[in-house]
Formats: sequence, structure tokens, C-alpha cells
Amino acid sequence: MTCSEHFDAKAREWDEHPGKRNVAQVFVCELQMHVSLNPAMELLEFGCGTGLVSMELHGQVAAITLLDTSAGMIEVLQEKIAQHGIDNMQPRLGGLSAIDQVEERFDLIYSNMALHHVARQNRP
Ligand SMILES: C[S@@+](CC[C@H](N)C(=O)[O-])C[C@H]1O[C@@H](n2cnc3c(N)ncnc32)[C@H](O)[C@@H]1O
Repeated sequence: MTCSEHFDAKAREWDEHPGKRNVAQVFVCELQMHVSLNPAMELLEFGCGTGLVSMELHGQVAAITLLDTSAGMIEVLQEKIAQHGIDNMQPRLGGLSAIDQVEERFDLIYSNMALHHVARQNRP
């Protein structure tokens, strides 16, 4: 089973796990303690899953681009975005190669519980 298939299978139940919600909430609190977000900022979340982190941040910034290699996770996230009528979160299926590193710029890049899933050969 690939990493993407592993997370595809977990996507529908992801938000029902209190532990996963708690870890995301702690991450949000820590981020807000160390970074002053403002309405002009454009953010990038790597390995966003169902968006537990960025759903807490989007109201404080201009836009958030969200990357994930699991189509199942992105599908759940897109449903949440539509359900809440959010217009400044843009999910993309893929890893960092889904970003145009020449044209696109972000004020902050963050990731919760995802980097350890990146295959060793893909690490810098
Ligand atoms: C443990 S989950 C964490 C999800 C989310 N950050 C959270 O806090 O709930 C790890 C996520 O990283 C994603 N992921 C793994 N490898 C990735 C890669 N190379 N590029 C982008 N996303 C990746 C997985 O699909 C999965 O959704």
C-alpha cells in the first residue's frame, strides 16, 4: 500500500479522532504564539490532510494554498471548504512539485505531522 492509499483509506474518519484534532489544535496554538498572522499574508500548508490546522487560520490571512498527495484527504477538505463557504483556501493534489517555485511566493510555510511521511529519497 502506498502512502497516498494509506491516507485515502483514513480520510473519511480522520476528523473523528480526538487525538488528531488535539495535536492540530496544539500546533495552531504554538504557531500563533510564534508568528503574527495578518490579513495580507499568503500561506502554504504542506501535507494538509483534511485541513484541521488551516481551518483554524484562514480567517486571519489573505489566502492559504494546501498541498496533499492523498486524493481522499483533498476530497474531504474540499467538502469542508464548500460546506463552510470558505473562499480563501485552495487545496491542490500533490507535493511540493505542485508549486511553481519561480512564480509563487508564500509568507509562511507550515506542516503538522507530515514531513516524516516524505520518502527518504525525496528529502533534500
Ligand atoms: C499524519 S497526516 C497529517 C494531516 C494534517 N496535517 C493534520 O494535522 O491532520 C500526514 C499527511 O501528509 C500527507 N503527505 C504525505 N506525504 C506527502 C508528500 N510528499 N507531499 C504532500 N503531502 C504528503 C498525507 O497524505 C497525509 O494527509
